[in-house]
Amino acid sequence: MERIILVGFMGAGKTTLGKVLAETLSIPFYDSDVLIEKRTNSSISSLFLHHGEAYFRNLEKETIEQLSKTSNYVLAVGGGLPCFNNLMETLNGLGTTIYLKHDVTTLSNRLSNDLEQRPLVTEKSGDALISYIKEKVDEREMVYSKAQLILEEAEQTPENLIRRLNLLHQKS
Ligand code: S3P
Repeated sequence: MERIILVGFMGAGKTTLGKVLAETLSIPFYDSDVLIEKRTNSSISSLFLHHGEAYFRNLEKETIEQLSKTSNYVLAVGGGLPCFNNLMETLNGLGTTIYLKHDVTTLSNRLSNDLEQRPLVTEKSGDALISYIKEKVDEREMVYSKAQLILEEAEQTPENLIRRLNLLHQKS
C-alpha cells in the first residue's frame, strides 16, 4: 500500500515530477486540481471567481477524504491545500509526503509563463508577483516543511526521488 504525495508552492513542478514518478512506479497519478475540475465540471479559476476561495478549500478537503479511501498512487496537491483544514497533518498520516522546495526567483520565473490558470496570481506580474510569492512562501514554508522528505531544487529528479524514498522506507 503506497501513497506518495507531492506538496509545494505553485510552479514547484509537482505535476511534472509526479507524472514521471507514477509512470516509473507503474501506479496511477492524480492531481487534486484536476480531480476538483472533473468533479465540479468547472475550472479552478471559475470556482474562485463564482464561489470564492473558502468554497474551493472545502472541495480540496473533500477530495483528500475521497483519496484516503484508496491507495497506490502518486498525488500532486494544489499549492495551498496543505495549509488549510490541517491537511498537511492528514497527508502525513496518509502516505509519504515530499516537499519540492524552490527559491522565490525560480518560482516567479516559472509562474510568470503560466499565470492564466492560477487565480491567486493571474493579475500579477513583475515586482508585485515576486512580493506575493515571497510573502506566501514565508507563510507556507513551515507547513510544507512538515513533509517527510524535503527535496531541494537540484535533487528533484525522478531517479533521486526514488532513491530517497527507498532510503526512507529502509529506515522505517
Ligand atoms: C493554489 C495553487 C494551485 C490551485 C489554486 C490555488 C494555491 O495549484 O490549487 O490555484 O493556493 O497555491 P498548483 O500548486 O498546482 O498551481
